[in-house]
Amino acid sequence: MNKIGILTSGGDAPGMNAAIRAVVKAAEHYGRSIVGFQNGYEGLINGDFYDLTYEKVEDIASKGGTILKTSRSAAFITEEGRQQAVHTLKENNINNLIIVGGEGSFKGAQKLHQLGVSVAAIPGTIDNDLTYTDYSIGFDTTLNTVLDCVRKIKDSGYSHNKTTIVEVMGRYCGDLAVYSALAGEGEIISTPEYKLTFDEICHQLEKKIQKGKSDNLILVTERMYDLQELQHYIQEKMQVSARTTVLGFIQRGGEPSAFDRVLAAKMGVEAVSLLLNGQSGAAVGIRNNRIIHVSLDELEEQTADKSVNESLLRVLLP
Ligand code: F6P
Repeated sequence: MNKIGILTSGGDAPGMNAAIRAVVKAAEHYGRSIVGFQNGYEGLINGDFYDLTYEKVEDIASKGGTILKTSRSAAFITEEGRQQAVHTLKENNINNLIIVGGEGSFKGAQKLHQLGVSVAAIPGTIDNDLTYTDYSIGFDTTLNTVLDCVRKIKDSGYSHNKTTIVEVMGRYCGDLAVYSALAGEGEIISTPEYKLTFDEICHQLEKKIQKGKSDNLILVTERMYDLQELQHYIQEKMQVSARTTVLGFIQRGGEPSAFDRVLAAKMGVEAVSLLLNGQSGAAVGIRNNRIIHVSLDELEEQTADKSVNESLLRVLLP
């Protein structure tokens, strides 16, 4: 009988293991065997896979990272690499493939779909930058990690009346910073969607100081500024003590939250159902608390607006 394959690709995200577990359980439920490819698309190209049985995944839902490991495969971007991947699948009688990853991984899934492979994609990225889905697996855990770190950093900020700049991940998506601010941690934010100039940041800081807040936390999305330059600018212009923390890879690790595990379970089961119903080329998501799927081919045209209402930020941040 044809087998189902699964791989995790791109940056690891907490909850990827919970998705693997759900997929294995669903496949077993429907009487299918399942194999896991190692190191993302690399494993597909190199034929590096093993049988995933229930025993292998029984206790993995609470583990961070991905037991299958992951990569950003340069070889898979080439036509030759993709042909080799298709060859691996055919040779081993694996005609369904589930890909857990972010935007780049989804592009790979779409290419395989176009080459005739039956695929389903599950969003696993801390960035939450796939606009067709309200949430991707990993985002909630990372948000909670950010909140935890920021609360700790604030203790020092408060004690020293410091201005603190904290850089969070997100690639080109500001959701981690925006949701942190909505959750009450972060006085000023600057994200790709709501980008502030140095002077605008200082102006907001001035307003906070005038209101009597002497320790302020500025949350910025990565890749936007030279942080040392920003820190220096604030110190000079505002005559305050400023310090910078880059949260870095702590944001990618740790035990997945209950939300991410449940989301992963729902999405994993949906992906298997779609494939077994003969539906290839779908990206599973969640919208308005319902599990949905959209065509990978139409992803770029998705216009679902999941951005936080700007007026909310205007009410909460000043
Ligand atoms: O996509 C997840 C992510 O952590 C981004 O937030 C970040 O920009 C990027 O991956 C870092 O990539 P790498 O792990 O390749 O350094």
